[in-house]
Amino acid sequence: MHYQDVLEACEQTLKELKTDYLDLYLIHWPNRIVAIEETMKAMKKLLDDGLIRNIGVSNFTINHLKDALKTKVKIVANQVEFHPYLYQEKLLEFCRQNGIAIIAYSPLGRGNILKDDVLVRIARKHNKTTAQVCLRWLYQKGIAAIPKSSSVERLKENIDIFDFSLDQKDVKEIDGLNRNIRFVNPVFSDFDY
Ligand SMILES: NC(=O)c1ccc[n+]([C@@H]2O[C@H](COP(=O)([O-])OP(=O)(O)OC[C@H]3O[C@@H](n4cnc5c(N)ncnc54)[C@H](OP(=O)(O)O)[C@@H]3O)[C@@H](O)[C@H]2O)c1
Repeated sequence: MHYQDVLEACEQTLKELKTDYLDLYLIHWPNRIVAIEETMKAMKKLLDDGLIRNIGVSNFTINHLKDALKTKVKIVANQVEFHPYLYQEKLLEFCRQNGIAIIAYSPLGRGNILKDDVLVRIARKHNKTTAQVCLRWLYQKGIAAIPKSSSVERLKENIDIFDFSLDQKDVKEIDGLNRNIRFVNPVFSDFDY
């Protein structure tokens, strides 16, 4: 997160990916030890030098975003855990107001929410799977999702969400499943900020 470290980490990544620029480069976690101004200055330098096309962040709360936005450097995306059991409505609204896209990681709650009764019922109604219902719920909110699967069949299933649509009642029910449960919460996370 220090100025020089950010520049070097990006150079290393470009080398490993055998490319000369990245479309989107993210700050993976906020870090209270290094001032965000210093990190954003390095991200801006990468942007100005053409090594990255867009700056994003990850695991940032509204307060982290407010601090980062004070630097006036454009942030295009915030990649956060987001699924029906962690419906971060206030963060979504703040991001919308500030032109920041939400990218939902663990959009299936790491597989832990797929047997939920409400999701099962809604999935049956549409002849889809509960994973597809979770992904469609995100899509209809304008949220990008990055589900992970090691199976080709499930990868196909996860992209096959464009032939149905959740109605208002479905969406309201899924919104109501929120339990503020995080499946990704390492010791260094700063979600209380
Ligand atoms: N920015 C960050 O700090 C951060 C943190 C965590 C994760 N991420 C990223 O987010 C991405 C996804 O998150 P995640 O892996 O934590 O959780 P996830 O995508 O919500 O869930 C993955 C789990 O769900 C299973 N699964 C996938 N599709 C399924 C389907 N259609 N039906 C049933 N089970 C299905 C997978 O098993 P199979 O593989 O067996 O299909 C795997 O166990 C990853 O690429 C990861 O790099 C980012």
